[in-house]
Amino acid sequence: MVLMPAYIALLLFLLPPAAAAAAAAAMDSAERETLFRVMEAVSSDRDWRVESPDPCGSPWPGLECKPAAGVGGGDAGAGVGAARMHVTRLDFGVEPNPTCKDAAAFPPEVFSLPHLQSLFFVDCFTNPSATTTLALPAPANLSASGLQQLSIRANPALSGTVPPALATLRSLQVLTISQNGLVRGEIPQGIRELTSLVRLDLSYNSLSGPVPSQIGQLKSLVGLDLSYNSLSGAIPSRIGELRQLQKLDLSSNNLTSGIPDTVANLTSLTFLALSNNGLIGHFPPGISGLRNLQYLIMDNNPMGGPLPSELGGLARLQELRLAGSGYSGPIPEAFGQLSSLTTLSLQDNNLTGPIPAALSRLGRMYHLNLSNNALGGAVPFDGAFLRRLGGNLDLSGNSGLCLDDRSVPRGVGVAVGSCRRGGDGDVPSSASSSSGSVGAGRGLTTTRGSREDSLLLGLLGPVCVAVSCLFALNEHAPY
Ligand SMILES: *[C@@H]1O[C@H](CO)[C@@H](O)[C@H](O)[C@H]1NC(C)=O
Ligand SMILES: *[C@@H]1O[C@H](CO)[C@@H](O)[C@H](O)[C@H]1NC(C)=O
Ligand SMILES: *[C@@H]1O[C@H](CO)[C@@H](O)[C@H](O)[C@H]1NC(C)=O
Ligand SMILES: *[C@@H]1O[C@H](CO)[C@@H](O)[C@H](O)[C@H]1NC(C)=O
Ligand SMILES: *[C@@H]1O[C@H](CO)[C@@H](O)[C@H](O)[C@H]1NC(C)=O
Repeated sequence: MVLMPAYIALLLFLLPPAAAAAAAAAMDSAERETLFRVMEAVSSDRDWRVESPDPCGSPWPGLECKPAAGVGGGDAGAGVGAARMHVTRLDFGVEPNPTCKDAAAFPPEVFSLPHLQSLFFVDCFTNPSATTTLALPAPANLSASGLQQLSIRANPALSGTVPPALATLRSLQVLTISQNGLVRGEIPQGIRELTSLVRLDLSYNSLSGPVPSQIGQLKSLVGLDLSYNSLSGAIPSRIGELRQLQKLDLSSNNLTSGIPDTVANLTSLTFLALSNNGLIGHFPPGISGLRNLQYLIMDNNPMGGPLPSELGGLARLQELRLAGSGYSGPIPEAFGQLSSLTTLSLQDNNLTGPIPAALSRLGRMYHLNLSNNALGGAVPFDGAFLRRLGGNLDLSGNSGLCLDDRSVPRGVGVAVGSCRRGGDGDVPSSASSSSGSVGAGRGLTTTRGSREDSLLLGLLGPVCVAVSCLFALNEHAPY
């Protein structure tokens, strides 16, 4: 038994071609055969068997081999000296990696490569007339897999469901099945078994059904992205168990009911995106405890109700987007404490009352959109603020707003009309308190304001959506 491999190795060494013979000894022949079958199913970049008879001996870009972990000298045969090499990483799709042929088929046998750790199919299955199915072999064939990273991304011709057998790949740390528009069905509940997962990205597919509550068992998750699918039902409250979570993106699904209160437990979160769903109700009490939150992106949900002052406690917040969500009542004064804020989007709501003066002291702000609300009163921004934001300030569609031109230095101009126009020069302190209509006599009337605005808009063209474009009008020249 011991002599056999040495004898074969010696024989092969003596026979030409020597290189191929040595290669045969360096790689397990069953593994090499599997690799060739995978390559032939996916790529016709070359005749793999003929041109690369020794894959691990001279790997192509996208192929990585390593000696088996823990293999000593004895295993490979005394006369050869080289440790057995195993395929540990395969990359397909994007140069310099092997490109995928027109009729590329998803190769289930790839999961039988016993030492594979990373597998990538990126921009690979793209031919609409040769769709192929995302299929895994039987769980028995997968249980020995040590796969840590599986990335199947941007494959518009890949169909099928997220295979339940994935749950067998217990070593997975990074799982990306993203931008495969034909991949549909539900997220398998077995996903709870993948407890080593650090990142799970199933975005931009056609997944439906619920977000499985068992996802709460994936305690190591740092990133969870299920955005741009058709997931429905409620956000499971068990999501609050994911204490390591830094990024949570559930945008652009069909999720309904409220944000679970347990979200306030996700104190590692830096990025939370829930836009374009059917979420209603209130923000979780204690949301200001999300001390690390930098992005709260929650446009276009039928939330309604008032904006909670508590959001003003999110000291690290850089972007706060709450547009198109039916919020009513005032902009909380507390938003003026968000000193890291660079972007505030509150457009297309029903917000009333004045713009809090404290917003003008947010020194990092460069994008502020308050358009299409029912805000009123004097715009509290000074010339420096107005100049800094320029076209990134949008106050249009708030017919009750007016500008106290005493606060605006020469050369900046005014936007929504002077608070003094048509009156005696006094700034109306709360010209439009509730519904957006402005008291006659002081400030702009709704009718006059909108007529003038649209006239001015017509003169300057589409640039003038934002109030700041209108500044130029007083100077009778675009800036
Ligand atoms: C699964 O394992 C069986 C038994 O080892 C083997 O015959 C079969 O080819 C494997 N299937 C795949 C797709 O690797
Ligand atoms: C969301 O759900 C509604 C009602 O169930 C359905 O009509 C609609 O098509 C769904 N939208 C998406 C994007 O799946
Ligand atoms: C998590 O959130 C829930 C609901 O808000 C709360 O009852 C629970 O005490 C929180 N758990 C921890 C450990 O903070
Ligand atoms: C504002 O409120 C009115 C009446 O309450 C409602 O009809 C309208 O749809 C709301 N607008 C938005 C953008 O939510
Ligand atoms: C503000 O929001 C409106 C409505 O969504 C949009 O049309 C406009 O371009 C935005 N303005 C700026 C300056 O981003």
